[in-house]
Amino acid sequence: MDRCIIDEVLLPESIIQKRVKELGEQISRDYGGQEVRAVGILRGAFIFMSDLVRNISVPLSVDFMAISSYTEGRDSGGVVRILKDLDKPITNKHVLIVEDIVDTGLTLHHLKEVLMIREPASLKVCALLDKKERRLIHDLQVEYTGFEIPNRFVVGYGLDYAEKYRNYPFIFVLKPEFYQSL
Ligand code: IMP
Ligand code: MG
Repeated sequence: MDRCIIDEVLLPESIIQKRVKELGEQISRDYGGQEVRAVGILRGAFIFMSDLVRNISVPLSVDFMAISSYTEGRDSGGVVRILKDLDKPITNKHVLIVEDIVDTGLTLHHLKEVLMIREPASLKVCALLDKKERRLIHDLQVEYTGFEIPNRFVVGYGLDYAEKYRNYPFIFVLKPEFYQSL
């Protein structure tokens, strides 16, 4: 991997893997044998989702949704659009949204409203990262969080900047010269 693009590694691979295992175990305990429909939010959550579900031991099925809340770079357009809807209905299912990061909370807030209308048996959220200090939706419930992180733009382990760096197995901050508009 190209080390000279990295400003700081926030979460090394071993730390992420340990926490994802804990989350999977906690989720398995909490659902107590009930069947879970894990809903991964593309594209940022795809790596987290694949590691998380391998650590969940209750009966489980997966589905994916693609949502756009950010433009190409790192700034929010303030708009949340469904680019790809779920393939299967979720009525009467125990739905667990799997998200990469909660920032302002606007994306998840909107998504939860959209999914609640479909009358799932329950709707919970598992987010790998949480930038709490950036939150605009203060009453947003996130049942499972991997790590609280400071207000820095991070990439790796599924997270991107302009669609790059998703393939790195750890989470890091890019050197400033690699962000086009800070
Ligand atoms: P929110 O609507 O402000 O909570 O934004 C959540 C979405 O913004 C996430 O699903 C990410 O796609 C994106 N995002 C927020 N912060 C970061 C970051 O530090 N790195 C990469 N993507 C981010
Ligand atoms: Mg993104």
